[in-house]
Amino acid sequence: MASQHSFPRVSLPHDRVVIVTGANQGIGYHTAKWIAMMGATVIIACRSEERAKQAISQMNAEFLEEKKNGTEGLSDLEKLNVSFMRLDNSSLQSVMAFVTEFKVTGLKLHVLICNAGIGRHKQEYTEDGNELIFQVNYLSHFLLTAHLLPIMTTSGPDCRVILVSGAQHQFGHFRLEEIQGKQFKEETFDGLHYYRRSKLYQIMQMFSMNRRLAGSNVTVTSLHPGAVETGLLDAFDPVKIDKQRKEVRFKQPFEGSWTSINAAINPSLSGVRDVFFADSQPSTESASTDARNETYQEQLWEYTLTCLKDFLTDDVIEILTGQSSK
Ligand SMILES: NC(=O)c1ccc[n+]([C@@H]2O[C@H](COP(=O)([O-])OP(=O)(O)OC[C@H]3O[C@@H](n4cnc5c(N)ncnc54)[C@H](OP(=O)(O)O)[C@@H]3O)[C@@H](O)[C@H]2O)c1
Repeated sequence: MASQHSFPRVSLPHDRVVIVTGANQGIGYHTAKWIAMMGATVIIACRSEERAKQAISQMNAEFLEEKKNGTEGLSDLEKLNVSFMRLDNSSLQSVMAFVTEFKVTGLKLHVLICNAGIGRHKQEYTEDGNELIFQVNYLSHFLLTAHLLPIMTTSGPDCRVILVSGAQHQFGHFRLEEIQGKQFKEETFDGLHYYRRSKLYQIMQMFSMNRRLAGSNVTVTSLHPGAVETGLLDAFDPVKIDKQRKEVRFKQPFEGSWTSINAAINPSLSGVRDVFFADSQPSTESASTDARNETYQEQLWEYTLTCLKDFLTDDVIEILTGQSSK
C-alpha cells in the first residue's frame, strides 16, 4: 500500500530556481522532475553529462505522458525548464567550477537540494585528501552551499537549503579524530559507519548553519526520505537489505522523493528551519543526540572550514562567520 503522505501540487513560478544534486536517477530524479513539472526552473547537478541528458529527455517524455493522462498540478509549459550543469562531489575543484558556471547564468537561487550521495564504500581518499564518503555526501555539499549562500541571501523571500540525510545517521557516532579514518587500515575501515556518519554531519550542518543564518531569508532543513528502492542499496550488504525488506516496505523512488519535494515547495514550510523531516513529517526528535549536540556541531563546523580553507572567498567567509577575513 502506498504511504499516506505526499506533497501539495502547487504552481511554481518559472523564475523560481531550484538546484538538485545527483538528479539523474533515484530520489533526485523524481524530485527534480516534479518540481520542474510544477513550473520551476531546475538545474540538475550531476557528474555524468550523458546520464544527466538522458534523464532530462526521460523527464520531458514523462511530463508529456502525465499531461496526456490529465495529472493534476502540472504547469502549462510545453517543455520542462530543466538543464544540466556538471558537478562531481568527489572533487572540490569541480564544486568550484559548478559555482562559477552557475554564477555566469546570473540566475537567482531559491532552493538548493543536496541529494547526491554514495552508500557504504571501501576506504578511499579523494584528490583533495578527504575520505570519499565524507566528501561526496557532506563536505562538497557544504562548499556548494557556502558559495551559493551569497546568491540565495539576495534572491528574495523564502529560500531553502535541503540536506537529504537519512535515518541511518542514528547509528553514526561523532568522533572528530575519526572523520578522515586515516588511523584505520583498509580491512578495519567500516564503510557502513562512514556512510552513517556522513548523514549525521548533514543534520549537524543544518543546526550550525541555521545559527549563522538566523533572521535571514534562507532556511536549512534536513530529512530522511524513507527506505527507498534505488541504486544506492547496491552498496550495502544484500542479506541485511533483504532482511529489512521483510520488516519494512521499501518505497519506490517516486514515493521516496515526496519528503524532499514537500520540504522544497510546501508553502506552509516557508521560514521553517532546524526541522528534520521523515516521511514529510517533522521528526526532529528522531535526530540522534549526537546530531543535536551543539558542541559536536561546532567542532564539525570548525573542522569543515579547515578542510575548505583554500576554497572559501571573503564574501562566503563573511556569511559563514559574520566577519570579513581581512
Ligand atoms: N535509498 C534510500 O533508501 C535512502 C535512504 C536514506 C537516505 N538516502 C539518501 O538519498 C540520497 C539519494 O540517494 P538515492 O537513494 O536516490 O540513490 P541513487 O539512486 O544511487 O542516486 C544517487 C545520486 O547521487 C549521484 N552521485 C553519486 N556520487 C556522486 C558524485 N561524486 N558527484 C555527484 N553526484 C554523485 C549519483 O550519480 P551517478 O548516477 O553518476 O552515480 C546519483 O544521481 C542520498 O543522499 C542518500 O544518502 C537514500
